[in-house]
Amino acid sequence: MLTDALQAEMLAVARAAREASYAPYSRYRVGAALLGADGRIFGGCNVENAAYPEGVCAEGGAISAMVLAGVRKAQAVLVVGAGAHQITPCGGCRQKLREFCDPHTFLVLAVNEDGQQQQWTLEQLLPHSFGPDHLP
Ligand code: THU
Repeated sequence: MLTDALQAEMLAVARAAREASYAPYSRYRVGAALLGADGRIFGGCNVENAAYPEGVCAEGGAISAMVLAGVRKAQAVLVVGAGAHQITPCGGCRQKLREFCDPHTFLVLAVNEDGQQQQWTLEQLLPHSFGPDHLP
């Protein structure tokens, strides 16, 4: 259950993570906060690279932090990006998140710089997805 207090905490983590973003090429700074099944929140920021395709998204960093902490299931992610448009996780990140959640209940919250928010389930953003259960 994503209470207002929890969402506020996730927003604070994502905003702090965004401050740490390394985005000298796109100048598009992103912060993410991933809520683990155990209630802990893991932050991540985008980290770009002079060899452009080697950059990593904020969501990927948050997933790595969660897995490193021994948590393998997530309940929700909150992503903060720049500008008026709410950021949505890129296609690759949707699939990465899919690995560690139930897409029908996992919530993706997107917040813009003004604090305006939109939310979806992962199933809405990545319908009929391929996941671990498909593998024998
Ligand atoms: N980016 C993220 O970190 N997460 C997303 O969901 C979309 C895009 C980053 C990648 C790159 O560093 C910058 O935003 C511009 O694409």
